[in-house]
This record gives sequence, C-alpha cells and structure tokens, in this order.
Amino acid sequence: MKNILVTGGLGYIGSHAVISLISNNFQPIIIDNLSNSRLDVLDKIEKISGIAPKFFKGDIRDMEFLSNLFKLEKIDGVIHFAGLKDVSDSVRNPKKYFDVNVNGTKILIKQLKKFNVKKIIFSSSATIYGEPKTLPIPESHPINTINPYGENKVAVEYILNDLCVHDDEWKATSLRYFNPIGAHPSGILGEIISKKTSNLMPHILNVALKKTSQLDIYGNDYNTKDGTGIRDYIHIMDLVDGHIAALLKLDDQKGHNVFNLGTGRGVSVLELIKVFTKVTDQEIPYQFVEKRKGDLSESYADPSKAERELKWKAEKGLIEMCEDAFRWVCNEKI
Ligand code: NAD
Ligand code: WQD
Repeated sequence: MKNILVTGGLGYIGSHAVISLISNNFQPIIIDNLSNSRLDVLDKIEKISGIAPKFFKGDIRDMEFLSNLFKLEKIDGVIHFAGLKDVSDSVRNPKKYFDVNVNGTKILIKQLKKFNVKKIIFSSSATIYGEPKTLPIPESHPINTINPYGENKVAVEYILNDLCVHDDEWKATSLRYFNPIGAHPSGILGEIISKKTSNLMPHILNVALKKTSQLDIYGNDYNTKDGTGIRDYIHIMDLVDGHIAALLKLDDQKGHNVFNLGTGRGVSVLELIKVFTKVTDQEIPYQFVEKRKGDLSESYADPSKAERELKWKAEKGLIEMCEDAFRWVCNEKI
C-alpha cells in the first residue's frame, strides 16, 4: 500500500499526517475544499518534507470530482480527515454537520467501492464517550454522544463497521482522538488559529501573543485536583504517528477496528497553563468564568489497546507540546 488519499489533508491534523506519511515512504494525495485551511499549507509541507504532494481542490460531497480523481490517480488506501469539527457549531448547525460529516463520508465510500479501494482510516473523536463512567476510558466504554458532532462520528463508525461485516475485503480503522495540541517541531507548520476556534491551546496562544488580554477558564469547581477541567492532551506528531501505525497494521487486520489515541494522562487547565508559562516564559493572565455548557469535568484515555496492537505509544510530553505550539505561532506571526 503506497498511494494514500488524504481527505482534509491541508487541515491541522491532515497536514501533519502528510509530513509523517512522506517520512514513512508513503505517497500522499491530498484533497481538500479549503473551507478551513489555506493553500500555502502545501508550501509548508514541501518546505519540511522536500516533497510537494499532489493536491486536488474539491469537496468530498462532489461525486464527479471524486470519480475523476480515482480515474486519474491509483489510490491504495484513504485516511479520512475531511469534516467539520466544532462541537458548539454542530449544535447550531446540525444539518450542515450531518451533510459534510456523514453524507460526505457516504459519498466518499460510494466512490471507494466503485474503484475497489477498501482500506480506510477514519478520524473519530473521544467526544463520543460523553461523560466518562470509568477513567481512564477504554474503547469498550459505552458510547454516549451529547452533541450532533459526536453523533456524526458514531454514525460513520457504524457505517464502517457495517461495510466490513458485509464485505470481508473491507479493512477500516476508526481512531478516537483525545485532545491534539502542538505543532511540527520545525515551527513551519501548525494549527491555523481561526477566530471561531473554541479550544484551550489556541486561546492560551492568543493570550501569549497579546491578542487577548486574559484567558477565560470555564469553571473552577469541578470535582478535580484543582477544580478545573481535565483532558488528555496529545502532541499532534504523536497523534499522526498513530495513523502510520494503524496504516501499517491495516493490511493484516480483519474488519473494523477502533483505537483511542491519547497519552493516558489527565492534565488540568491550570496545569497546562503552568507548564506553558514555565516553558515559554509567557505569563497567561486568566479569570474564572462559568462552566461551558456540555463540558466534561474529566476525560483521559486508556491507550493500552493501541500500544498493544499497533505498537504505538505517545512519547512527547506537555513541555514539547507547549514549546512546539509557541514556536509555530511566533514564526507564523499568526
Ligand atoms: P481542520 O478543520 O483543521 O481540518 C479539516 C480539513 O477538512 C480542513 O482542511 C477543511 O478545509 C477540510 N474539509 C472540511 N470539509 C470538507 C469537505 N466537505 N470536502 C473536502 N474537505 C473538507 O480539522 P482537524 O483538527 O485537522 O480535524 C481533522 C479531523 O479530525 C476532523 O474529522 C475532526 O472531526 C477530527 N478530530 C479533530 C480533533 C481536534 O481536536 N482537532 C479531535 C478529534 C477528532
Ligand atoms: C479543553 C479544556 C475547557 C477553552 C473539544 C471537542 C472535541 C475535540 C477536541 C473535535 C476544557 C477548558 C477551553 C477556553 C477553558 N474536537 N477551556 N477556556 O472541550 O475537551 O474537546 O476539542 O473532535 O470533540 O469537544 O477541548 O480545548 O475546547 O477544552 O477553560 O478558552 O479547557 O472547559 O476543560 P474539549 P477544549
């Protein structure tokens, strides 16, 4: 398996995955509709890897675009990142999220079937677990979606499972990401912080860059070690290396498999701020505000299944996550 179609390959995770694919001697072919990314990410990929991967601008919902692509390019497998990912936006626009995340995936799968490409890795999310009943969270934890975005991810996992049950030539892996943060260590590639982002690390970076005066910490009376929310932050490079491990395993796996991609360590908001300040020497003024609706108090992975079956383990710690994220935003003058 050499030629890998990377949908959403100019996005935050997809672009870092392309770097990892190239360094592992795969041939990535990127499609992206640029709805949440920029074309200059392609130049950054080339600057880092020395290779300018093939890129086709288009939408996964465009059957003709996909059909022409599969006629043009020999595709051996797919890593499917393309989609909409903002939880609160999904609550406001459930139909839009269903159309891209579920209907778009169905159209992609239809073309995969037509061109007999039956190997896919899918970007799922730990959000599907909802409020954890056990910690750390194993893949066997009950699914308890609490927003349309989570429902989209579960729907696609079910579609992939169904595909594999009805045709044993299909091989599919759903990777349930916890909280990816950080950037490529070169400082050339990272997450483009959009105004609409709701995530913690981009908000910390905006304060560090003096773009906002202080960080709002959503709640300080959770039943956690310091009252603030606890999450499993994983370095983006560890996350994408998990995709390489899953790709290498795909050929000899049967059916649909799911894996958590996390470190197995829970980190609070205050802990992350403390490490960020220590590493970057940037004070992060903050104020406690009311809890964000739908937020969990604590969530972190049991990553042992991926460690055992994929021979993959997150190696990087909070220091590198903060160092690499800060280097990127300073270089990019985001
Ligand atoms: P991102 O928005 O940076 O990347 C998604 C890419 O897909 C963007 O480049 C966007 O332009 C493209 N895209 C969106 N709709 C498309 C369409 N209809 N056709 C073609 N391209 C389209 O997001 P990301 O953080 O890189 O996330 C990638 C995947 O991982 C998503 O499926 C997301 O749900 C999932 N995920 C992300 C996180 C996270 O914290 N970032 C956590 C869990 C899961
Ligand atoms: C982390 C912690 C907040 C911002 C979300 C999606 C999930 C996945 C990853 C797509 C929480 C606190 C945050 C801020 C804060 N995305 N926080 N002030 O909510 O764990 O997960 O992103 O799949 O699906 O739900 O990540 O970074 O938004 O929040 O105090 O300005 O930081 O309360 O405890 P979350 P997050």
